[in-house]
Amino acid sequence: MKNMQLYRLVYYSEATPELGLDDVARIAEKSSRNNRRRCLTGSLLYCEGKFLQTLEGGIRQINDLYRKIMIDPRHINVSLIEFSPIQKRAFETWDMSLVFFPSSQEFLEEYVKYSHVTEFDPMYLSGGACTDLLKELLQKRRHVTHLADLQRKSG
Ligand SMILES: Cc1cc2nc3c(=O)[nH]c(=O)nc-3n(C[C@H](O)[C@H](O)[C@H](O)COP(=O)(O)O)c2cc1C
Repeated sequence: MKNMQLYRLVYYSEATPELGLDDVARIAEKSSRNNRRRCLTGSLLYCEGKFLQTLEGGIRQINDLYRKIMIDPRHINVSLIEFSPIQKRAFETWDMSLVFFPSSQEFLEEYVKYSHVTEFDPMYLSGGACTDLLKELLQKRRHVTHLADLQRKSG
């Protein structure tokens, strides 16, 4: 019998030094298109060279994608934070919404609510806390939908 259970995967990684904002925007755009096809939802945070991503969907779709993500040369130190069954998606839309903070200062004001340390290190957070943080940022409309927004926000 097929596994119909929903799963959530949360990981953290670091962008390679040469990765530019246009590359980040390209990743987000392609991800939105791909994820919709695979019924995957989630959110991708990018702040000062660090990625934090939540993916929700079927076990097979998540595994297939995570395998690709792990070997993607655009980032390093891909670190799994959580992989667990869930009852309900936290992110309703199919877009891989990109939450972008040009500097960590503003981001840390949001982040410290979820963490017992003040520097951004998602390895100290549970997958649930990462998901809640990303969801809160989306609700506060901190995500960007177009490359132009990203460039404008980066000043
Ligand atoms: C930080 C990061 C997050 C990514 N997230 C996704 C994602 O959510 N969905 C996706 O399809 N690809 C994502 N990718 C890209 C994949 O690693 C891979 O390049 C892509 O899935 C290949 O797509 P294709 O099989 O359609 O060519 C991500 C890459 C990076 C570096």
